[in-house]
Amino acid sequence: MVTPLFPIESIEPVTPKGQGDHAPQYLRLDAEVDGELPALPAATLIRGRASDALDLLPAESVRTVVTSPPYWSLRDYDVGDPFGRNDTLHDYVASIVADFRKLRRVLKGDGTVWLNIGDAYTSGNRRYRAPDRKNRARAMSVRPRTPRGLKPKDLIGLPWRVAFALQDDGWWVRSEVIWHKPNAHPESVADRPTKAHETVFLLSKDQDYRYDVNAVRGANDRRLRTVWDIPTSPRRRHQIPGDDHPAPMPINLAHRCVTLTSEPGDVVLDPYAGSGTTLLAAAQLRRRWVGIELKAEFVRLIERRMSR
Ligand SMILES: C[S@@+](CC[C@H](N)C(=O)[O-])C[C@H]1O[C@@H](n2cnc3c(N)ncnc32)[C@H](O)[C@@H]1O
Repeated sequence: MVTPLFPIESIEPVTPKGQGDHAPQYLRLDAEVDGELPALPAATLIRGRASDALDLLPAESVRTVVTSPPYWSLRDYDVGDPFGRNDTLHDYVASIVADFRKLRRVLKGDGTVWLNIGDAYTSGNRRYRAPDRKNRARAMSVRPRTPRGLKPKDLIGLPWRVAFALQDDGWWVRSEVIWHKPNAHPESVADRPTKAHETVFLLSKDQDYRYDVNAVRGANDRRLRTVWDIPTSPRRRHQIPGDDHPAPMPINLAHRCVTLTSEPGDVVLDPYAGSGTTLLAAAQLRRRWVGIELKAEFVRLIERRMSR
């Protein structure tokens, strides 16, 4: 059982009830509190915008980040935040760069970021998308205009546009991993191959950084290659009402990233935590963790997941 150390509305300490001194605890707070935490406990869950919450974390406190930000114009998380719903591709890329500048402050000098981001197509001049009855977090109803320089039906190349912008902002782009999904959904397209992968970038704050080449080995005990076959997680829809996220990362992907670039006791951060997959992987691997999530419903989902 994980016990909140603080109520979410404030940073006043709360004594966990009936758990004794051995109950694992996490700090739970709202991103809008002022100030910077002096140090990080074993676990911290912050409700709010990444851009606000990152200001609360001590400088150079995080060893590795494993994250998947909202993709451009794909899902409406209904969180009243423009991130992911930006009108233009330029604004979307700029919001990632701005948040990542804050991430850089909290990363240790040898720290890294695993950034999972999917590509997308321009809309082919359709300005709306039919409602998605299967996804509770709706597919976005309005499609953005085709970005300048692209044509209808063009593949946008989003991951690399973000990577180039981050590189320009001082990040090292150290690897492009192709996350191949052997169980990818079929697509109703007949004029191109079905998409079955997403990109995961390994970014570093400096040219030297923590990476344990032996921590995860590939087939036949060879060094890990850049194509990772990892099935997507089956969604456990309706098992527990509200216990669902539309875009969970497979825990095996999070395990692999955490293992390669951190050690037990290190702090692992996910600033767009969603259902908390990275946090769960970190806890299972005896790392400390910090999760930031804007949507209250998903914060509750993380709390339930971490308490099981
Ligand atoms: C792609 S999902 C992350 C999924 C996660 N990797 C998992 O395994 O469940 C992105 C998440 O970012 C959250 N989000 C959107 N804007 C945010 C912001 N400005 N700050 C923090 N979280 C945000 C959304 O509510 C959503 O849960």
